[in-house]
Amino acid sequence: MYQSKIAGIGYYVPKNVYTNHDLTRFMDTSDEWIQERTGIQERRFADRYAETTTTMAIEAAKIAIERAKTTAQDIDFIVFATLSPDYYFPGCGVLLQREMGMHEIGALDVRNQCSGFVYALSVADQFIKTGMYKNILVVGSEKHSFAMDFETRSRNMSVIFGDGAGAVVLQPTQEKGKGILSTHLHSDGADAEILAMYYPGAHANKWMKDKPPFPDQELGGLFLTTEQLESGAALPYMDGPAVFKKAIVKFPEVIKEALSTHSFTEQDIDLLIPHQANFRISQYVQKLLGLDDNQVFNNIQKYGNTTAASVPIALCEAWEAGRIKDGNLICLAAFGSGFTWASALIRW
Ligand code: COA
Repeated sequence: MYQSKIAGIGYYVPKNVYTNHDLTRFMDTSDEWIQERTGIQERRFADRYAETTTTMAIEAAKIAIERAKTTAQDIDFIVFATLSPDYYFPGCGVLLQREMGMHEIGALDVRNQCSGFVYALSVADQFIKTGMYKNILVVGSEKHSFAMDFETRSRNMSVIFGDGAGAVVLQPTQEKGKGILSTHLHSDGADAEILAMYYPGAHANKWMKDKPPFPDQELGGLFLTTEQLESGAALPYMDGPAVFKKAIVKFPEVIKEALSTHSFTEQDIDLLIPHQANFRISQYVQKLLGLDDNQVFNNIQKYGNTTAASVPIALCEAWEAGRIKDGNLICLAAFGSGFTWASALIRW
């Protein structure tokens, strides 16, 4: 059985910075409210036309591939996590394969929202362990800005999310005790609808606001009229306080599960990279686990919540800043829509 290691890592964020003050041009909100409730000061939004979820992923992937001292043609599998794909179908994995000129390798899209990257990493880890692949590209990328509503009615969501991408290359390692030690994946669909985008989906009509937005006809109904779309019926939905309550339970749980699997304690963690959902959630988790400030990495202040991209962006920034050194114990943890939550323990 092989062990997998992160051989290369990269991230990309768009140039366009939107501060909290900038958002007050579109909706009734304030810098004070956003900072107090979320810790976010600014976020990046992709170029409306030139950039997509796939193009951002490619920029991050190029860096990860170069740092892994390999080439796009040597990648033998792609795992792509996103909730904001360029198309409803096909997924972004094949678009990346095409644009990067890769061979006709397998490309898998992961639909696990904020925990998507940790799920994707776990999938890739299994393929490396069995010896099936030797160079897997794992990416998390999101262009939230294209589907967000920047009116006051959606301000609880639109102030939180930002765009960006992160990528890693996984390879087998011979070094004993190094690399991904274990991954831990969970889900509970009981509250699937409290953080969700129902449209376009086959069951959308049950949940969309101001029903019935679907045309009264025997078959079909995916295509809404302009009026129906403008009413906001098809917008994403989030019960923020309910998400918050569940997140602060499941984050610590899945981190402790990873630690106890290897008989580690919280004090053994050199750096925890939590999914950047909300700074208050990270602080709460840090306090509950009794971790010092230097044991936790946060960058939500600059980028907001970039969903599947948040863990690899934070991991890469932490590594570039010298916060991750050879032999360090790194814990990745994420929680999000589904609900799904996950962790990964890595000996760097
Ligand atoms: N600016 C100003 N006021 C806002 C606002 C905004 N951007 N968004 C919501 N409000 C208002 C609400 O309308 C409400 O007003 P009311 O009391 O007059 O009705 C008030 O602020 C409180 O709303 P509430 O939703 O209860 O606030 P909150 O303290 O729970 O904070 C979140 C909202 C979304 C920041 C918080 O619930 C949260 O972060 N939840 C977790 C979300 C998350 O992590 N999502 C990603 C999953 S990985």
